[in-house]
Amino acid sequence: MSRVFHITVGDRRRPPQTAPVPTGAPAAELGPGGGDERGPGIVAGFLAPHPPHLIYAENPPQNQPRSRGGWELLRWAYQEARRRLRERHRPDVIVVHAPHWITMVGHHVNCVPNPRGLSVEPIFPHLLRYRYDFRTDVELATAIADCAADAGLVTRKLTNPGVRVDYATIGALHLLNPDWDIPVVSLSANNNPYFYSDADLEQMERLGAATRRAVEETGRRAVLAGSNSLSHLHWDREPDLPEDMAAEHPYDDHQYRWDMDLLTLVRAGRTRELRAFLPRHIEATAAEVKAGSLSWLLSALGWPEIPGDVLGYGTIIGTGNAVIEWDPANPARAHPAPPGWAPGPDDADRPRPMTGARS
Ligand SMILES: [Fe+2]
Repeated sequence: MSRVFHITVGDRRRPPQTAPVPTGAPAAELGPGGGDERGPGIVAGFLAPHPPHLIYAENPPQNQPRSRGGWELLRWAYQEARRRLRERHRPDVIVVHAPHWITMVGHHVNCVPNPRGLSVEPIFPHLLRYRYDFRTDVELATAIADCAADAGLVTRKLTNPGVRVDYATIGALHLLNPDWDIPVVSLSANNNPYFYSDADLEQMERLGAATRRAVEETGRRAVLAGSNSLSHLHWDREPDLPEDMAAEHPYDDHQYRWDMDLLTLVRAGRTRELRAFLPRHIEATAAEVKAGSLSWLLSALGWPEIPGDVLGYGTIIGTGNAVIEWDPANPARAHPAPPGWAPGPDDADRPRPMTGARS
């Protein structure tokens, strides 16, 4: 079991965390420019999916392939996320947890001051060959690694500048901030839970609490990005034109309905139920949130019992993707579920094909 990679809690440099993670902050006043007046801390979190098709469709100068567009509703959702990031949240740093920087032992934090290179999507190299060049907030990166170690997680600081940055990290960060003018901290996804049928998200929750502690100790104003898709079964054939939207739709109705149930919980602000629902959703849809980015994100925010703002949902080669913002100080309006509704489609026990799925 993945717990073989745990170490004993408590060490050395700093006292172990004993205070519970706060469960939300008081409402913040918006300033004249629409930005909130909060001080340091985690000011917002975004679920920020990374399929390479989205960057490909944007045609940014950093990416070599050219497209005619496509997946507009998701890209417009990111457009609104970028506006809020820049006008309201105004972070010192974006902290991203991404599932394709895979570390088999422990949780790694990129502490390289200026990662530069070419990120290539190995399944879709014809869509993503991206030149990146960004700055790391090394002080915060180091603090997150130390806090995670103090929380009992096996942790490493990546200091080798030659390690290529994965496309899931690049995808979420580009789509949230294509100018790359905000420093970054990048966290790996410890992948050993993938060897087991049930996701072990507890480590990701501890990593989230450690991230929050490090942000507060360093006095940063941070936005978090969990770089995950939702349902994750997908096609194994691509249309001649990758951005042919006539070929784009949910993998099947079952996947779609599970995603809608997850989003219903998000929009209603039923976060405690969402936490319990995630393993069911993962089991039913091979959801990419199995990698832990969403659990890390919501744990860092203290599992706030507030609605998330679903800025957009769309499929990419059949997988479900949602751009969602959680802003504890300025929460979205709640959209309650219909009376008597319960999460989990009525064909929840239907057997599912389990394919190797990534995008
Ligand atoms: Fe992915």
